[in-house]
Amino acid sequence: MSNGAHEIIFRPGLEGVPVTHSAICDIDGLNGHLSYRGYSIEDLAAHSTFLETAYLLIWGELPTEEQLHDFEAEVQRHRRVSFRVRDMMKCFPATGHPMDALQSSAASLGLFYSRRAIDRPKYVYDAVIRLIAKIPTMVAAFQLIRKGQDPIQPRDDLAYSANFLYMLTEREPDPIAARIFDRCLILHAEHSLNASTFSARVTASTLTDPYAVVASAVGTLAGPLHGGANEDVLAMLEEISSPDQAAAYLKKAVENKQKIMGFGHREYRVKDPRASILQGLAEEMFARFGRDDMYDVATALEREASSLLAVKGIYPNVDFYSGLVYRKLGIPRDLFTPVFAISRVAGWLAHWREQLGANRIFRPSQIYTGKVTRAWCPVEERTLEMDA
Ligand code: SDX
Repeated sequence: MSNGAHEIIFRPGLEGVPVTHSAICDIDGLNGHLSYRGYSIEDLAAHSTFLETAYLLIWGELPTEEQLHDFEAEVQRHRRVSFRVRDMMKCFPATGHPMDALQSSAASLGLFYSRRAIDRPKYVYDAVIRLIAKIPTMVAAFQLIRKGQDPIQPRDDLAYSANFLYMLTEREPDPIAARIFDRCLILHAEHSLNASTFSARVTASTLTDPYAVVASAVGTLAGPLHGGANEDVLAMLEEISSPDQAAAYLKKAVENKQKIMGFGHREYRVKDPRASILQGLAEEMFARFGRDDMYDVATALEREASSLLAVKGIYPNVDFYSGLVYRKLGIPRDLFTPVFAISRVAGWLAHWREQLGANRIFRPSQIYTGKVTRAWCPVEERTLEMDA
């Protein structure tokens, strides 16, 4: 199909099709390089903090000392969530998935703030602060509420990541563990036009409010092919149960054309650089807090996959080792993807701002494959054969 100027090729899932210009994140999938606003993920994970990285992603530059202090103070000031949202969460079924609770509570924030002010810089800044600040509080709140407890209030004397772990586990975290968690948040903060970020941009392009943009992205991230994979990886490792079972499991999965969770990526043809850093963080956790047998299963599976899957450019992605770190941090498995969302809000907000800066509503085309020019048939004359 052509529109004259150039051939328009139908690409399922928009694979390889650029749909926007962006200056936020660059991925070199062939060589396994990832950078946020030009800074390598290795440098950011080693030297930055999640809030500093969020600032970089959203506003485009690393903050000065004063800018960072002000941003941290603003986020700290807005951590609390209205009792109305907490009471709403108390009506959610305790057996509901935390990603559904997060999507509902994130959308509900829009009820508190007018939606028609996205052209005002102060509204945009306030929305960024509120979402970065309140998403962790809502994730932790649902965890306590579903256990039949009242959520605990944020602590102003704890930094961002330590405060989340405190609200979630009711214990002040070990400083090393909090730093490792903060680095995990840096690693998950942004990844160009992944499915949930694309959802965010499509939703943003209609000029709706940022709370709806984030709720749309949360719903997209929840899928097992995207952010939901980190939960499934642990279930897979437990099914394999021991390193010497990895080869047989992999062989059977490949024969059945079953996807190995935590492996493969639309962009990377080598190991996801985030997986390598997360593997290092897992080993740091195990050295300090004790080993996890599932790690030996994971490394055995990666070794076996290097022969069977690497030939197809299928390697571990960001979700393969992250769950092992989170489990050691005491984070319940079905909260792994909400933790991914806590981090990815930074990337979604960066893309929300960028979309507003040069907006054109997304409305792609299609190739129609349905029936045409059918004669109307009154209901009394219809037969089942007609639908065959
Ligand atoms: C995330 O996009 C992002 O940036 C996402 C993310 C981010 O930061 O936002 O990186 C986060 O979502 C990571 C991915 C988490 N999902 C999983 O780990 C689920 C398992 N992975 C696959 O479902 C898959 O690899 C995808 C969805 C991640 C990518 O799928 P693609 O690019 O659409 O590839 P495909 O399904 O078309 O597969 C191409 C081939 C197929 O083989 P053939 O039919 O051509 O013979 O590769 C095979 C697939 O069967 N393949 C796999 C595989 N992934 C692809 N085979 C076994 N195991 C896998 N995991």
